[in-house]
Amino acid sequence: MKITAVILGGGRGERTGFNRPKQFMNLGGRPLFDYSAEKFQALGVNTIVAVLVEDYDRYYRVHPAINQIAPAGLTRQQSVLNGLKVCPPGTDIVIIHDSARPFFSTTGVKKALDLLGQNRYDGLALAIPATDTLVEIKEGKIVGFPERGAIYQTQTPQIFFYEKFFNACLKLQELNFTDDLSLAFSAGLRCGLVEGSRLNFKITTELDWLMAEKILSSGGLEFV
Ligand code: CTP
Ligand code: MG
Repeated sequence: MKITAVILGGGRGERTGFNRPKQFMNLGGRPLFDYSAEKFQALGVNTIVAVLVEDYDRYYRVHPAINQIAPAGLTRQQSVLNGLKVCPPGTDIVIIHDSARPFFSTTGVKKALDLLGQNRYDGLALAIPATDTLVEIKEGKIVGFPERGAIYQTQTPQIFFYEKFFNACLKLQELNFTDDLSLAFSAGLRCGLVEGSRLNFKITTELDWLMAEKILSSGGLEFV
């Protein structure tokens, strides 16, 4: 199986309030983007594609494990499509990952690869069960409390059979999706979840960044 990892670094990180895209900021002394690049290198994927903002070289020295660079799109979904377009011919499986999640578990990715290998699914995402009470609002009014036990939150990496997923992305490119699994599901692909971790949070705000720094400096990562 030929595996390509597409790591997304095409966003501007507006919500952090930093003066440069977060993926190029140093976290614990090295660029955030490199955490993901090195994990996929350690996993032994065949190719690593980085989707990067146009002016990335103002901020970032490209990690040597990266084989190919694709240009960012206006949205995450368009960035994913740009990454898929440069995957080498013969790619069987593609892994889509947000560089804003440095602490993902390679165990979860291996499990997903195993399930795809058994041809039980077309796509899988790391996910965690919701832990807060959920409430649904319409026009400012509470309309219900969805059963929490039935709700999971997806993370990345998300892992797919390349051709099926690429075709789904082309077919549904006019619609908007917040992740890749939801797009795949809408296209009729067989979708599933594998166990993620609460540590695999997405660094979105400055507070998330500070928490990531704390986690690293306290050495609390043995179980990742
Ligand atoms: N991303 C991307 N291309 C875009 C937008 C986002 O590749 N046009 C990537 C980001 O680099 C990030 C991931 O998608 O790794 C998740 O997006 P998010 O956390 O929203 O990051 P940003 O879009 O950079 O942040 P913000 O929304 O605060 O500007
Ligand atoms: Mg964004």
